[in-house]
Amino acid sequence: MSYVIGVDLGTSAVKVLLMNKQGEIKQEVSKSYPLIQEKSGYSEQDPDQWVEKTVEALHELVSQFNEPVSTIEGLSFSGQMHGLVLLNENQEVIRPAILWNDTRTTRQCQAIYDTIGEDQLLAITKNPALEGFTLPKLLWVKEHEPDHYNQASTFLLPKDYVRFRLAGMIHSEYSDAAGTLMLDVAHKEWSQTICEAFEIDAALCPPLVESSERVGTLTHEIADKTGLSAATSVFAGGADNACGAIGTGILSEGKTFCSIGTSGVVLSYEHTGDLDFAGKVHYFNHGKTDAYYTMGVTLGAGYSLNWFKEVFAEHKSFEDLMQGIGDVPIGAKGLLFTPYLAGERTPHADAAIRASFIGIDSSHQLTDFVRAVVEGITFSLNESLEIFRANGKSIDRIITSGGGAKNETWLQIQADIFNATIVRLSSEQGPGVGAAMLAAYGCEWYPSLEACADVFTHEKEEIEPIPEHVERYQQLYQLYQDIYAQTKDLNHRLADFRQ
Ligand code: XUL
Repeated sequence: MSYVIGVDLGTSAVKVLLMNKQGEIKQEVSKSYPLIQEKSGYSEQDPDQWVEKTVEALHELVSQFNEPVSTIEGLSFSGQMHGLVLLNENQEVIRPAILWNDTRTTRQCQAIYDTIGEDQLLAITKNPALEGFTLPKLLWVKEHEPDHYNQASTFLLPKDYVRFRLAGMIHSEYSDAAGTLMLDVAHKEWSQTICEAFEIDAALCPPLVESSERVGTLTHEIADKTGLSAATSVFAGGADNACGAIGTGILSEGKTFCSIGTSGVVLSYEHTGDLDFAGKVHYFNHGKTDAYYTMGVTLGAGYSLNWFKEVFAEHKSFEDLMQGIGDVPIGAKGLLFTPYLAGERTPHADAAIRASFIGIDSSHQLTDFVRAVVEGITFSLNESLEIFRANGKSIDRIITSGGGAKNETWLQIQADIFNATIVRLSSEQGPGVGAAMLAAYGCEWYPSLEACADVFTHEKEEIEPIPEHVERYQQLYQLYQDIYAQTKDLNHRLADFRQ
């Protein structure tokens, strides 16, 4: 038997999956790490902890594996996007990584528009200047920590740093590079224009490869620490959303997925890089060569539920927390939630907006709040879906993955709010499976990613929208949509107060 490993470097944990040629997950290990949140809007992590936890997870996986390690032929990665890791000339980490959900860079985003103009930025990078992306973070470090900036000899994205430490070579790949705001997305090269406009030495940008490219093998040190063979091939891997798309079979036009992890995403395949969505949705290179995808992002999806649990129901498990939400009527007895705990991206690119519960009364119980949180996250994702539909895409079937695919009631809520058939796969581990598929394809087990997806992804169940629910939710959605406009000014004033 032959195996591959998918390493999914998430925001709260790293998960490693061992998969065989039949596309079965034979083992999985997860190790968590904390966020460092020094101030409101800051979100950082220690890159060396990612490496330490990945190595621990691989070691645990190998110690439970009863076959020769030489049968594990390849390993690849999926990673949280946009995070900035800076390395000095000795290839050491200079400062903690600034993550995708860090929103300190509003001023740098404005400076990007002032310097290069929105039209040129969109023409090159296909995306607007958002706080979460990498370029504004680099500019923030340049402005606020010139010593750190001057020491930098390269920047890396999170999983690219872990891969460097596991295999010893520095690379980036197109699907993650697309989220830096420094890549010429259609031409697949670092943009000289952007580097020159912001006086960034182009030598900081790592060499680019395809997601399925073999970049080397594990180092002897990592082989010793994990128990894996030093001959294990390492493949570049992709951004978590690109890998989520691969792992759920979003490899041809007309396919859409919704993934609810820490962030929530609605993503649709695009065969070309020259469409114009005017920056309303993100437009990135896929992990499949020369393909693309568009997506809308809810920053605080699973993050909202996790926050709610930690603050109000710390001792409950997620299963217990979700228990009973199916008995709460649609609309949580008049309670609405907007998931803006860390600001928002789609459709409101607004780092200062914060979450609300609207309509609390004394009859509301914990379960009503949980249902309101789940509905609020799903309404927010529906706003992305509406942008796709308004751009002429017909979306009546959505593959779902992540935490939102685990709960029966949430699956029905997705079908009812999205007014679409929801497809559940036999595994909800989209990004990890996508990473393993890149390794499987890289190892030449299959002639294409599509052929690999035929074996690795299995539809388990379809959930149909219930017309009466759809109608109820459409009424409530109108109210939900009003909350942003009506709380915006208040939240911007509160942001000033916080500072
Ligand atoms: C996408 C984004 C998030 C992260 C989460 O633009 O910022 O989905 O990739 O890991």
